Amino acid sequence: MSPPQNTDHTELYRSLVDHARYPIDRPQAPRFAEVIRHVREELAVDGCAVLDGFLSEAGVKQLLAECRARRANAYFSPSTKTNVYFSSDDPALPPGHPRRIFMERSNGFITSDLFGTETSARRLYYWPPLTAFVAACLGKRSLYIYDDPVSNMIVNVGVPGSCFNWHFDTNEFTITTLLQAAASGGHFEYVPNLRDAHDEHYDEVKQVLDGDTARVRRLPLRAGDLQLFLGRFSLHRVTENTGATDRLLLIMSFAGKPGMIGSVHRTRELYGKVTAAHIEAERRRVRSDALMD
Ligand SMILES: [Fe+2]
Repeated sequence: MSPPQNTDHTELYRSLVDHARYPIDRPQAPRFAEVIRHVREELAVDGCAVLDGFLSEAGVKQLLAECRARRANAYFSPSTKTNVYFSSDDPALPPGHPRRIFMERSNGFITSDLFGTETSARRLYYWPPLTAFVAACLGKRSLYIYDDPVSNMIVNVGVPGSCFNWHFDTNEFTITTLLQAAASGGHFEYVPNLRDAHDEHYDEVKQVLDGDTARVRRLPLRAGDLQLFLGRFSLHRVTENTGATDRLLLIMSFAGKPGMIGSVHRTRELYGKVTAAHIEAERRRVRSDALMD
């Protein structure tokens, strides 16, 4: 997929971000190093870091206007029930085991193909300093734009009544920016480091699913805040949107390798469409595994 035209839009990018607090294209600035240090410290403690007011007020306004103009074309897949591991039921386990507890999850997205190259959302996402900044925050030598033309930069639409129940992520990290909070409900909650690479800690997962809130943290997110979250080990959810308006969350995806793209099956399931690029990537994946040529 072709990135936006290579015209110099530096001033536009800078105006979308609160550039005085977050000079993300000036890695030599003392403030840049300060921000990176802050993020890394927070991530090391509990896998979650927030840069409050990352987007400028004008930036939030502009991105929201772009979302609203596309809201009618958002794709909603039928709401599903999943367990915290996104795995299927295992009848060999006793009833009440965390693997056997299935909870509501609703999905709605304004997909990236709906944002043209002229949009600020897309320009910001494709701005190389943003990718480099996220890589520095995560302590990675390099990161790349996720190459999926449908899902690389999407807006999750949390309609009134929707929720995204407790789960662990399969992704190592998630980068999100709230564009519009729910008028009530729609809170991001998490239990830091509930499991680790060696132990699922089923008993503790079960306690949370049964309603124990002792270790649950709620993030007071506001529109424009950038959140970096390591969700592999921290159980998390978005509570029900009990307000009358949408909760809108911009999700920008990055990959450790260039050219990464989602599978045909998963992309169609979540976003209701695939492109020729998905089909071509699938064909290549199959061919790379075949031994006949
Ligand atoms: Fe998640």
